[in-house]
Amino acid sequence: MAGLLAPGDLVLALETSCDDTCAAVVSGAGEIRANVISSQEIHDAYGGVVPEVASRRHLDLVNVVVDDALRRAGAGLGDVALVAATQGPGLVGALLVGLASAKGLAAARELPFAPVDHLQGHVAASFLGPDALEPPFVCLVASGGHTFLARVDDHASFTVLGATLDDAAGEAFDKGARLLGLPYPGGPHLERLARDGDRSAFAFPIAARVQGLDFSFSGVKTALLYAIRDLGPEDAAARAADLAASYQHAIVEALAQRVERALAQTGLDRLAIGGGVAANGPLRERLAGVAARVAVPPRELCTDNAAMIASAARWVPPQPFPSYLGLDVYPTGARDL
Ligand code: KG4
Ligand code: ZN
Repeated sequence: MAGLLAPGDLVLALETSCDDTCAAVVSGAGEIRANVISSQEIHDAYGGVVPEVASRRHLDLVNVVVDDALRRAGAGLGDVALVAATQGPGLVGALLVGLASAKGLAAARELPFAPVDHLQGHVAASFLGPDALEPPFVCLVASGGHTFLARVDDHASFTVLGATLDDAAGEAFDKGARLLGLPYPGGPHLERLARDGDRSAFAFPIAARVQGLDFSFSGVKTALLYAIRDLGPEDAAARAADLAASYQHAIVEALAQRVERALAQTGLDRLAIGGGVAANGPLRERLAGVAARVAVPPRELCTDNAAMIASAARWVPPQPFPSYLGLDVYPTGARDL
């Protein structure tokens, strides 16, 4: 599907909503010509993303990343038909760097510009790659910043079926990992530790009381905190793998049970998953059989990236030069999921 563009038209997109500086070149037909991601490991030492540091690093990296994406695509700015960037939601300073840079690139060639919603981008990752899905389908996006279930009926929009009432699933992984003394970002570390543990060792809550298709992860985090406190430092260290496995199981079940509910409610039999948590092995295994077709994009399309923004941009009405120069970012946006 080429959206509003010709199949061979090239989209250059930037994504800087959090701590990854990303640029990608994608064709109207959805072929990824380049997808460059520069992760800002500088934040790991702080145990989380420091917004002001992120903005400054984006400034250092953005031109390098754009040049690299164009070089890998074998293209110049003159070959680009549309420039796009994430407009929101995200960290305000981080978003500003990407949006201003993209507007500048577009204006230099008087190219049209497409502002893209970050969450629409996560959904549009499913329209790319070898496992691409065509609407309608149910989409679970679970990352460090957002967790929501969507019904996707067309390429340009989605309907929110449910969202987290507190922490995002990735945030729950990160906070749990921290309680277990693991480094940031904790998801992959916790998954590794959990491999040697018994997932039924501790009965952590899966927010069964939260009705409908919303999520809540604050209870499981508190339960882990209390379990560690009750065990005491020595026993908690000795049983770290069991704690990790049980904690991970509770998060995976909370996600999977709502996905099953969403599929039953909508009557749809196709599922796409995205966001950094989609990299989690037990989650993938748990979801593998829940629908007739379960599409998991490759990891580099699940985590924040600019190819998904370029993908979404194909269905955003392009704004002609110079009408987009006054566009501003929206840090929280209409939907903060
Ligand atoms: O999508 P993403 O790269 O960035 C945003 O937050 O938007 O997601 C990062 C999140 C982090 O919270 C990280 O701990 C989590 O995804 N994550 C995982 C795994 N890999 C990344 N969580 C569980 N298991 C994993 N293997
Ligand atoms: Zn994201």
